[in-house]
Amino acid sequence: MTATAGVPRRAAILAITSGKGGVGKTSLTVNVAAALGRAGHRVGVLDADLGLGNVDVMLGLTPGAHLGDVLGGEKTLSDVLVPGPDGIIVIPAGNGIRALTSLSSPQWQRLAEVIDEASSALDFLLLDTAPGVSDNVIGLTALADRVVVVTSYEPTAIVDAYAVIKLLMSAGPDREVGVVVNAVRDAEQGELVFRQLSAAATRFLGVKLRYYGFVIRDSAVGDSVLEQRPVVSRTPDAPASRCFRRLALRVANWSRRPTPPRPSLPAPMTPFSPEDFARLEAPRCA
Ligand SMILES: Nc1ncnc2c1ncn2[C@@H]1O[C@H](COP(=O)(O)OP(=O)(O)O)[C@@H](O)[C@H]1O
Ligand SMILES: [Mg+2]
Repeated sequence: MTATAGVPRRAAILAITSGKGGVGKTSLTVNVAAALGRAGHRVGVLDADLGLGNVDVMLGLTPGAHLGDVLGGEKTLSDVLVPGPDGIIVIPAGNGIRALTSLSSPQWQRLAEVIDEASSALDFLLLDTAPGVSDNVIGLTALADRVVVVTSYEPTAIVDAYAVIKLLMSAGPDREVGVVVNAVRDAEQGELVFRQLSAAATRFLGVKLRYYGFVIRDSAVGDSVLEQRPVVSRTPDAPASRCFRRLALRVANWSRRPTPPRPSLPAPMTPFSPEDFARLEAPRCA
């Protein structure tokens, strides 16, 4: 990123979210971060799955304190930053901390300050959020420049992704929302899922989504989780690593300001039809 004279340099902030859990948000976050780090960018990952974070576990880190301690005022940001692999820094979330599942307004204020402070010394800050449509998730995505909604090929994940997109759009209609389809068989499967979501978003929400890309289903991802290392570092030639690098390259080319959306792709010819989404939109019977 380039700094403009007189304007404080600030990281591009990217929130990674999903409707359904277990679709690959944390895998995507740590691997895109690691790929950006390996390419020489200054990258931070803020574990924003508040209360149930596991970025530290995925990276084999053992932090002594976490974001909850900062939001509670007991620690400063520098107390909880942990160096991760490939030059990235990690701000860990607490795990099993119920008080973080719904933040108070002073905690929101502090979180926004933490994000500003962290991003002042970085090129990219990735927020790995909880799944679903909680106030925490919607509030966190509002602090980001761009939002990535991760889904898999499964219809349940697609429907939940649509629900999140709908909520994101009503909370911030001008925000750029992109889609990553994870754990697909091939590029065609990823595009198919995106076309389904995109057609529904255009038809029912009047918004254009962006396709950020896909990640191939690859056993190397799970193997790397077991070794608590990013797959892009452990097995750089694995098919999933190539996909993560491609996504990282796309992120690296972003400036802070999103560009206007392009026209959407043509309507899909798929088994999961716009009518399926229409049913979701139908008024409920009393
Ligand atoms: N592209 C992929 N190929 C194979 N397995 C994957 C892929 N992405 C994620 N997984 C596996 O799916 C599980 C859930 O991934 P995770 O990143 O923790 O999801 P989330 O953060 O959305 O809950 C993990 O066991 C991970 O190894
Ligand atoms: Mg996760």
